[in-house]
Amino acid sequence: MQIVAEFVTSAAGAADFPRDRLPEVAFVGRSNVGKSSLINALVRQPLARTSATPGKTRLANIYRVRRGSMPACYLVDLPGYGYARASRPGEGETESSQAADAFFGRPGQRAVLLLVDSRHPGLSSDLNAWQWLASRSCPRAVVATKVDKLTHAERVRHVREMENVFEMPVALVSARTGEGLDELWKMIASLPNQTAA
Ligand code: GTP
Ligand code: MG
Repeated sequence: MQIVAEFVTSAAGAADFPRDRLPEVAFVGRSNVGKSSLINALVRQPLARTSATPGKTRLANIYRVRRGSMPACYLVDLPGYGYARASRPGEGETESSQAADAFFGRPGQRAVLLLVDSRHPGLSSDLNAWQWLASRSCPRAVVATKVDKLTHAERVRHVREMENVFEMPVALVSARTGEGLDELWKMIASLPNQTAA
């Protein structure tokens, strides 16, 4: 399947986001959860900067992607935790909140994927994020990253735990092995059309 992808811009606020009304899908999650790696795995090229140490970017990095016959859309690598603002004051916080607020604050078709580390199901920071996202009335789904790191027994146990706490099916992916990427592309194509749960 042919994939066309390009970096568009790093957005600090609403004025920097594209205005052509293509659907947008944001990737949010704790630093180091694998947001940038997942975007790179999806587009099969190193577009997004990845790092073993938590990144310092406070901007929303926006990529325009098209896969096969699917209409083009934007993947948005959202920084930090706009939704944990109260509990995480500090350096750069205002700027990252602005990028997140800009994403959620504009009209248009959009969806959000909460990325959680499959090795650590049910972290309270992830649950807080999920609740915060629920208040943004935007279709959303949970994606569990780095499943290549789980044993079979952990996979069974962690999936059960995650589906319990998030109260919905969780997509399992690995940027390393490519597991789950096909299903994730399908989710990216359909989620922005759905109404918020
Ligand atoms: P920030 O930009 O700091 O918020 O981090 P991020 O969420 O973008 O994480 P990033 O993609 O930079 O990945 C963090 C680390 O996890 C890197 O060392 C990656 O190589 C590793 N990683 C990401 N995805 C996977 C995966 O599917 N499997 C394994 N084994 N490692 C992964
Ligand atoms: Mg990143």
